[in-house]
Amino acid sequence: MPVIVLVGAQWGDEGKGKATDLLGDRLDYVVKFNGGNNAGHTVVIEGEKYALHLLPSGILSPGVIPVIGNGVVIDLNVLFQEIDGLESRGIDTSRLRISANAHVIASYNRTLDKVSERYLGARRIGTTGRGIGPTYADKMNRVGVRIQDLFDESILRQKVEAALSFKNQVLSKIYNRQAVKVDDVVTELLSYVERLRPYVGDTALELSDAIDAGKVVLCEAGQATLLDVDHGTYPFVTSSNATAGGACTGSGIPPTRIDRVVAVLKAFTSRVGEGPFPTELHDKFGDHLREVGQEYGTTTGRPRRIGWLDLVMARYAQRVNGVTDFVLTKLDNYDDLDEIPVCIAYEVNGVRHDEMPISQSDFHHAIPIFETMPGWKQNISGARSFDDLPKEAQDFVVFVEERIRARISVVGVGPARDQVIERHSVLSEA
Ligand code: IMP
Repeated sequence: MPVIVLVGAQWGDEGKGKATDLLGDRLDYVVKFNGGNNAGHTVVIEGEKYALHLLPSGILSPGVIPVIGNGVVIDLNVLFQEIDGLESRGIDTSRLRISANAHVIASYNRTLDKVSERYLGARRIGTTGRGIGPTYADKMNRVGVRIQDLFDESILRQKVEAALSFKNQVLSKIYNRQAVKVDDVVTELLSYVERLRPYVGDTALELSDAIDAGKVVLCEAGQATLLDVDHGTYPFVTSSNATAGGACTGSGIPPTRIDRVVAVLKAFTSRVGEGPFPTELHDKFGDHLREVGQEYGTTTGRPRRIGWLDLVMARYAQRVNGVTDFVLTKLDNYDDLDEIPVCIAYEVNGVRHDEMPISQSDFHHAIPIFETMPGWKQNISGARSFDDLPKEAQDFVVFVEERIRARISVVGVGPARDQVIERHSVLSEA
């Protein structure tokens, strides 16, 4: 039975919930393999709204085992706030599994994230301020604190001491902040230990056994392809691998066991935070799409930057992720437009680029080359099959599909769970 990787094809907020909803009953495990509480999704079940930042969406489905893999960075305060919030509404969270190798976001890394952004001024990344970057930096520097360290007080103390001996210099001498006390950090982290214990295990082994037993496993990326630290618009990226390869390193599932890669592509583009954005709109069309699509950050509430659909990016996402199926979301957000420009290539210094330019400076200067599709000027939110769509909307989907090297298996036409057109099962071979 399949292992499916789910990624975002753009800069995040593509609406991955559409794909998870669709797979809903067929899933046995949902694995979060990268990022932390910088993500955010709102799930609506039977009229009840649940805002999740850290817990995998599978926590809301009784038949699913949600897993936080080794590639995730965990803010324990947020973890237990989310667990308590769900438990108080009668949701059982006892199935949750957490990798002993996942890293912990310590309070000093949240502080460093915020002060370093302020220090960068105009060159800031526009992070979510949750301590993500500094925690991954600690992991790579080999001074991180892992979940398993919390179960050995003396090891924990040594690690926090090692990390703080350097960081306190930085905090006090560069950022003019108070030094952090080792005792305070250790005491806070130890306060979670007993609650944490039942959830923690060797999740790579558990997943391997589950796959052997024929279970269906979904590895759900946080953030998205262009925010990937290796394949995104560096340095305006998050600090983890949000592409399909990250599913392997961040969960311990080997590449040979992955069957399908599903990418969610929003019918237009959005971005939160700084960085280049060739198709960005600064006009009434951008404002319109932001309002109809309610494009405001789930984690930070920031208004998202909006642009036209960019097929150079979508093709790139197909290539670096090995996408087998696309889920095209929010097609209905175009219902009122007369015409829809779609970026099919870039021009950089007079040269046409059909693929992403290799240099960031070129990408900064990329001017989109558009092809304009006619709008359909009607409400498509009731369509449930491809034939229900007006001809112009069908043509739009086919136009996109022909240029992104993989089939569009699902089209989203509204925010509700059932507002989808399923053209192919994402679980089936093309
Ligand atoms: P960080 O992940 O907090 O370090 O932020 C790095 C960049 O990734 C910033 O531009 C954030 O706005 C962006 N980012 C992080 N998480 C998300 C997300 O879930 N959706 C969209 N953008 C995100």
